[in-house]
Amino acid sequence: MASYAPLILLLVFLFPFVTPQMPGFISLDCGGVDSYTDDTGLQWSPDDKFLFGQRANISAPASTNRQYATVRYFPADSRKYCYTLNVRTRTRYLVRATFLYGNFDNSNVYPKFDLSLGATPWSTIVVSDAYTPEIVELVLLASQPTLSVCVSNASTGMPFISTLELRQFNGSVYYTQSETRFLLSLAARINFGAESNDSIRYPDDPFDRIWQSDSLKRANYLVDVAPGTEKISTTSPIYVGFDEMPPQKVMQTAVVGQNGTLTYRLDLEGFPANAWAFSYLAEIEDLPPDETRKFKLFIPGRPEVSKPTIDVQENAGGKNRMYEPGFWNISLPFVFSFGLRKTNDSSRGPILNALEIYKYLEINLGSLDATTMASFASNYPQVVWAQEGGDPCLPASWTWVQCSADPQPRVVSIMLSGKGITGNIPSELTKLPSLVELHLDGNSFSGPIPDFSGSPNLEIIHLENNDLSGGLPSSFGDLAHLKELYIQNNKLSGVIPSGLLKKNIAFNYTANTDLQTESKGKNTAVIILFTIIGVALLLVITIACCLFQQRRKETKSSIETNCNAVVVPPPPPPARKLGTYFSEVATESAHRFALSEIENATDKFEKKIGSGGFGIVYYGKLTDGREIAVKVLTNESYQGIREFLNEVTLLSRIHHRNLVTFYGYSQQDGKNILVYEFMQNGTLKEHLRGSSQDKIVSWVKRLEIAEDAAKGIEYLHAGCSPTIIHRDLKSSNILLDKHMRAKVSDFGLSKPAADGSHVSSIVRGTVGYLDPEYYISQQLTEKSDIYSFGVILLELISGHEPISNENFGINCRNIVAWARANIESGNIHAIIDPALEETYDIQSIWKIAETAILCVKPKGMQRPSITEVLKEIQEAILIEKRVHPDREYPLDIISKKSMCSSGNLDATDLVQSEHNDSFDDLLLRPGLR
Ligand SMILES: *[C@@H]1O[C@H](CO)[C@@H](O)[C@H](O)[C@H]1NC(C)=O
Ligand SMILES: *[C@@H]1O[C@H](CO)[C@@H](O)[C@H](O)[C@H]1NC(C)=O
Ligand SMILES: *[C@@H]1O[C@H](CO)[C@@H](O)[C@H](O)[C@H]1NC(C)=O
Ligand SMILES: *[C@@H]1O[C@H](CO)[C@@H](O)[C@H](O)[C@H]1NC(C)=O
Ligand SMILES: *[C@@H]1O[C@H](CO)[C@@H](O)[C@H](O)[C@H]1NC(C)=O
Ligand SMILES: *[C@@H]1O[C@H](CO)[C@@H](O)[C@H](O)[C@H]1NC(C)=O
Repeated sequence: MASYAPLILLLVFLFPFVTPQMPGFISLDCGGVDSYTDDTGLQWSPDDKFLFGQRANISAPASTNRQYATVRYFPADSRKYCYTLNVRTRTRYLVRATFLYGNFDNSNVYPKFDLSLGATPWSTIVVSDAYTPEIVELVLLASQPTLSVCVSNASTGMPFISTLELRQFNGSVYYTQSETRFLLSLAARINFGAESNDSIRYPDDPFDRIWQSDSLKRANYLVDVAPGTEKISTTSPIYVGFDEMPPQKVMQTAVVGQNGTLTYRLDLEGFPANAWAFSYLAEIEDLPPDETRKFKLFIPGRPEVSKPTIDVQENAGGKNRMYEPGFWNISLPFVFSFGLRKTNDSSRGPILNALEIYKYLEINLGSLDATTMASFASNYPQVVWAQEGGDPCLPASWTWVQCSADPQPRVVSIMLSGKGITGNIPSELTKLPSLVELHLDGNSFSGPIPDFSGSPNLEIIHLENNDLSGGLPSSFGDLAHLKELYIQNNKLSGVIPSGLLKKNIAFNYTANTDLQTESKGKNTAVIILFTIIGVALLLVITIACCLFQQRRKETKSSIETNCNAVVVPPPPPPARKLGTYFSEVATESAHRFALSEIENATDKFEKKIGSGGFGIVYYGKLTDGREIAVKVLTNESYQGIREFLNEVTLLSRIHHRNLVTFYGYSQQDGKNILVYEFMQNGTLKEHLRGSSQDKIVSWVKRLEIAEDAAKGIEYLHAGCSPTIIHRDLKSSNILLDKHMRAKVSDFGLSKPAADGSHVSSIVRGTVGYLDPEYYISQQLTEKSDIYSFGVILLELISGHEPISNENFGINCRNIVAWARANIESGNIHAIIDPALEETYDIQSIWKIAETAILCVKPKGMQRPSITEVLKEIQEAILIEKRVHPDREYPLDIISKKSMCSSGNLDATDLVQSEHNDSFDDLLLRPGLR
């Protein structure tokens, strides 16, 4: 153990490499020994806690940046070497790795090797010049709390690395619809009209992207420049605060085609491929009123790109404002030529300020056993073999693992003989369905042998020479392919399962404490005794279980009778017989109050506390002290009576702590009255949008209300047979008692009332909460309630009402379209209620936001059940209660982009269609209008 002590120290520091100066910035000077801040203000830290490889100084010219003066290099073997960095999930990052060879190994053999991000091949690094750094960059959405950058597959020389840099983006910068399936690998990022050969990066670019100067000459790069190409620049500020937010300094320079044309040709590394390609334009010249600058894009063989005419000033909404036209997905060749040509009616030639092209790299999902293996390795945080990082199988497997050759490989063999491992055999090793060989011999494993039935393909098991104790699991006998089982030299005891002895396998079980082939002699009595005790115990348990089950059955059946009630209203009786029919049905189950009793309780309907779809609600207090809410139906029509009838019969049979309790009814003197428990704290709606002292500012409180309401709905959907569909869930139908616990009200209603909140005589519900599918098909399912509940979840996050002319930006009246656009682009902060105190954990809000988006899917089939929703809410509460509030990162400012009108969004308020994420779409991104 003593020999590991230094390693423990090292590993404690492995993850928080630095305290970044910018949120989410990590700058590793590989091979370095000191921390320092460079001229630009970036803080570099050494990778001296890294466990693999060696440091070297390079013999570099004096002008070389300090971070390039050292490298870390690795043996040219068949394994991989991974750096693992902590990231925030659901956040976009720029990952940059640089490689300056500088003859670090004094061999002048230019290395060639592969680089990968986790299991995804990223790039092949080919050094072609000792003193020019190779720089590769990825833009990605972090889906896991860590990411690994690995070098592997040395073809020439030794793999090495100079720097590893991580830059966090915010808002929806570089959002793409396919970001969960593809990474963006940088092919070109060019600053046109640059004033020097120097790149522009931090601090001019707050995200530290490197914008290369167009005056820097490279072979086959930015050639074929049209005559008449001139540089222009301005010192005026440029408005760039949206979309990809290019730095102002980059936008302040440009090239213009004075002869009417700009042309360029450049080689795109790794192409042909599908690309994300956008240009950054801003009018930085003063155009007299009678002059225009209009032009079109030309790409040989691609006439479709020439359709739109670009008028920068017009498109951007003024001078010195950025306009970002481009393509989400366009296939480009290796040799890429393009031109910008002025239109005939334009007086000025085209302008170009900057350009970015990324290649889409498909994310390799990696081994199917990756999670299990990572969890296994995490049992041994102190040892080197468990720190190899990245995917267990790809692009090269861990040194002690072998994998199948499938596209998503499985672990087939684990070789951990003689590693000095202590403790129990971790259960992860029993969850590898393709595992064939397991070598754990010669360690100090103790405790029982686990049940390997989760790894049914095991053929070879070596557990010999450990300290294992207990009996042999009988499941060994079930391993159909078992060929070798070595368990000698342990402390095992008990009887060897006879199935195992009968197998024709290599089986060594010698030198164990008390392992026997059959039970005999003195032991027999003991065994018999144990058997008797066992049988007795079993009997007791069985009896207890039966009793328990019986009781459960009883409870269950009573629930069923409660709810099995009339859900579909009874066939309408002839109008004149209504009264009779009503009292027959209702009196059988509900308490009937005398009108005088109600009048006493309410002080002759003195205190009005609300008016709903069916009448006015009054406060009252019964003689026994119970506070009540008295709903007097104003609607005397047939519909209203039936509603009343329906509600009374149903209500009297439904009891759940998260449903408002129904006390009874009164029907006398032409008055139809429902009596409910009084809910002291009114409706959820009032607490989201009411006066400020009523507002619920705690996120966890809002979650608890959602949980309560979901439980009530779950009871209606799942606890009753047949299912009861609420049909009119909304924040004003969720009531709060004096402890601020929520109950659902107004269920059991089947027909529309006469007030304006209901959109048609057939479809019942409230605008803004109404399921568009139900609206179209008029087929009611419980998934319509899920839609409405999704809207309520969005209200809880944002505090906004479902329909508004002001809150959701231009072209958008509907909370669903607005929230979906922001959530899908990763800009969650844009929808969080500013009234929420900053005590929430953002992951908890994400969970609810994503659940809400599932709930409001256009098709009912795609929506989760209320039970699944409830589970997510409960997990969000756990996150909130477990994790300390994360105050390290301030709130993002809401993006200036009008999300609802951004290209890929449907405009209809009621009915949303699924996004079309066809990968062949050419989409011109509209700028800020
Ligand atoms: C690198 O150079 C520094 C000083 O310039 C020296 O202290 C260090 O030993 C060198 N490292 C190696 C591995 O040569
Ligand atoms: C390793 O590199 C060689 C040469 O670059 C390449 O042909 C081979 O496919 C690579 N192997 C893997 C597993 O990526
Ligand atoms: C930029 O670099 C080129 C060589 O790539 C050189 O000819 C030119 O003089 C440099 N320009 C400036 C402004 O340094
Ligand atoms: C571009 O314009 C310049 C003058 O502005 C002229 O001298 C030159 O011939 C033109 N070149 C072409 C190819 O039209
Ligand atoms: C079984 O294991 C013991 C102890 O390690 C060893 O002495 C013996 O040779 C082994 N038997 C076989 C058949 O491998
Ligand atoms: C994050 O985005 C906001 C605008 O949405 C911007 O003002 C802020 O500077 C950004 N943060 C960084 C680090 O660039």
